[in-house]
Amino acid sequence: MSKIEHIRNFAIIAHIDHGKSTLADRLLEVTGTVPKERMRDQMLDRMDLERERGITIKAQAVKMKYTGKDGNTYQYNLVDTPGHVDFTYEVSRALASCEGAILLIDASQGFQAQTLANLYLAMDADLTVFPVLNKIDLTAASPDELAEEVVEFLGCEPDEVLRVSAKEGTGAEEVLEAVYKKFPPPEGEPSGLLKAHIFDSHFDGYRGVIVYVRMIDGEIKRGMRIELYSTFAKYDINEVGVFTPEMTPIDKLSAGEVGYFIATIRNIADAQIGDTVIEAGKREKVTPLAGFKELKQMVFCGLFPVDSEDYEKLKLALDKLSLNDSSFCFQAETSKALGFGYRCGFLGVLHLEIIVERLEREYDLELLITVPNVIYKIHKTDGSVLEIDSPGEMPEPTVIEHMEEPYVNATIVTPPDYIGPIMELSHKKRATQKSMEYLSKSRVLLTYEMPLAELIVEFFQRLKTVSRGYGSLDYELSTFKRTKLVKVDILVNKEPV
Ligand code: GTP
Repeated sequence: MSKIEHIRNFAIIAHIDHGKSTLADRLLEVTGTVPKERMRDQMLDRMDLERERGITIKAQAVKMKYTGKDGNTYQYNLVDTPGHVDFTYEVSRALASCEGAILLIDASQGFQAQTLANLYLAMDADLTVFPVLNKIDLTAASPDELAEEVVEFLGCEPDEVLRVSAKEGTGAEEVLEAVYKKFPPPEGEPSGLLKAHIFDSHFDGYRGVIVYVRMIDGEIKRGMRIELYSTFAKYDINEVGVFTPEMTPIDKLSAGEVGYFIATIRNIADAQIGDTVIEAGKREKVTPLAGFKELKQMVFCGLFPVDSEDYEKLKLALDKLSLNDSSFCFQAETSKALGFGYRCGFLGVLHLEIIVERLEREYDLELLITVPNVIYKIHKTDGSVLEIDSPGEMPEPTVIEHMEEPYVNATIVTPPDYIGPIMELSHKKRATQKSMEYLSKSRVLLTYEMPLAELIVEFFQRLKTVSRGYGSLDYELSTFKRTKLVKVDILVNKEPV
């Protein structure tokens, strides 16, 4: 086992497609964690869907051994984060497991909306960040220009901006050297009371829930009785281990380390992301980690089987998928036009697309999907408040005093040429501009507040069209706000199609 000062826990943060998984692959290869002959692309993306769509859906962790030029052997724990805005909370919890983050920027694209959003998340988590420019092999790459932007933006020295080609492996060794030099080791008390942070989990049909943890204090080993802070549920540990990247059992996990444990947890909702694991019965002596929140579904739609005979099959498939993902919900729904189906709630539109694609692909279902909509808060004239996610639940207009709808803070990064069309589009989508800031001569950051309902229907596609593919978007939910659309049209428009 490594001494705590020889452990480094870090993540790679990047805009989608800037090469995070490819760089992770090179680090696994150079450290010999995965021998070259066993290497396949995007090693850490386990699901077929993750590989095909080129996006990371679940967080992952991998333990690597690296001997630095200083002669010390380090334990590197790379925590791979999901790569999409719907999963901001998961990303924030994965980052809370790290002390450092590599900010990876595609040198042919430069700063994009998610580069900034992820950078701010890392800063909020107090992580040490160092920048790496990727894809320097591309002729379209302009690393010198971008390096200047990065220096100005981060306030770092020019020689601190590393340059790599994750595809060809150039510069991977320098990145590994920088990790132990720049990132601090974890702080923690190995002999203290157990405190561990859950940053993800997955369900295994045979073994139950596999819980991914970052150890803060103490240790965890087989036979221990643990308690989950938010639910009070107690379990006995059957196995602890690390990801190499396969699950590899070890004797114990100690303060500062990253790994997994298996207890007799049958329901994935019992091991919630962001929750704290403690020793059973020691609740009074441990302060749980900050930042835990329960996930809330924000986007809803109806799913109906094309063939009504498939209704039971759809139910079974939803039951099975929810074993592995406690962040979507479903309940039976009947529509005059579409028959029997389910009303489902998701974290966002990408989450919706992923679940639908898995249902169609892994369970061989053909589905009709109604236009997505959001939750509305209906303030009634009698003072009560009703939350609805389906047009069918809308009360009579006469009993509605006013309605609220969810808003998001959206950030858009674009070359200056497309500011006009983007402003026009945003205006049409009921967005209010909050700020405009030049990040450099060639890149502008626009921030907006806009209704989630407008964002989920084609906003992203239209942004790409009006900015000829150069505009990028990130958003986070802000709050519910009184909607000027007091009429029910907005909901009626989103009736099943
Ligand atoms: P998410 O998991 O969705 O966040 O994407 P990602 O950031 O992990 O990107 P990924 O590693 O999947 O790379 C995106 C694309 O860029 C793939 O087609 C890679 O082959 C390509 N790519 C990554 N690094 C390089 C590089 O250094 N040079 C070139 N030419 N292409 C690269």
